[in-house]
Amino acid sequence: MEKIATGIEGLDEMLFGGIPVKDQVIVAGGPGSGKTLLGFEILYRNAKKGIPSVLITLEENPDNVLKNAKEAFADFNDIDALISKNMLTISGEETARRLLNDDGTSTYTFGNMVADIEEMIKRVGAKLIVVDSISLFKLVLGDDLKYRRSMLALTSNLKRLGVTSLLIAETPSSERSDLRFEPEYFIFDGILIMYQSGEGYKRTLTAEVVKMRGSDHSWALTPYEMTSSGFRMFTVGQS
Ligand SMILES: Nc1ncnc2c1ncn2[C@@H]1O[C@H](COP(=O)(O)OP(=O)(O)O)[C@@H](O)[C@H]1O
Ligand SMILES: [Mg+2]
Repeated sequence: MEKIATGIEGLDEMLFGGIPVKDQVIVAGGPGSGKTLLGFEILYRNAKKGIPSVLITLEENPDNVLKNAKEAFADFNDIDALISKNMLTISGEETARRLLNDDGTSTYTFGNMVADIEEMIKRVGAKLIVVDSISLFKLVLGDDLKYRRSMLALTSNLKRLGVTSLLIAETPSSERSDLRFEPEYFIFDGILIMYQSGEGYKRTLTAEVVKMRGSDHSWALTPYEMTSSGFRMFTVGQS
């Protein structure tokens, strides 16, 4: 099976080499668990290898995401160079704003959003994307059949475009004991979950892979940390 390495050593070990090409993997976790930064680092490391990568940021301003990433990853000194070469793109301004009018109504449809995502992918010939986050869709579409059908439309569209995708999903809690599997997670090929336990300086970060279709992977709950030179997953003999 052809895989696309994330470029993060411990994570690739957990994934037994990486993400199967053209698959769609959910990265779920509570606020502050590091989903956006992990997504950014994976794109950054692949952009360095010459794989055009796009972060589609639906909820945050792309400039803010970039500023945060530069602050968090102070050792990544070629971010701007990769951006100017169109190897790394952060895109998606205004999507959330267009999705909901001030009065809560919307004229911008899910179809518009899928078309916008497609346009962002085609503009730079992206091979790897992160969508941050798909939780917005649920907010807009509600929790019903229409939402499920829309998710299926999104996945088949991404598959047709031939991109490997990481789809970020916000979970209400960061604690593993509170985890509720959202039914929609299971239409995707893989699920990586990031947890944060405890509070303040006693905060513990852990991650686990709970599904990777057609591929073996680690089952271990793996501690990780964020450093100025990227994520470190503390794997112990997982592959
Ligand atoms: N400059 C920084 N230095 C160290 N850690 C940072 C920095 N910026 C953010 N972080 C860490 O990253 C976390 C936010 O990561 P982020 O990817 O935005 O989380 P999520 O998308 O899951 O909400 C913060 O809670 C903080 O622990
Ligand atoms: Mg985020």
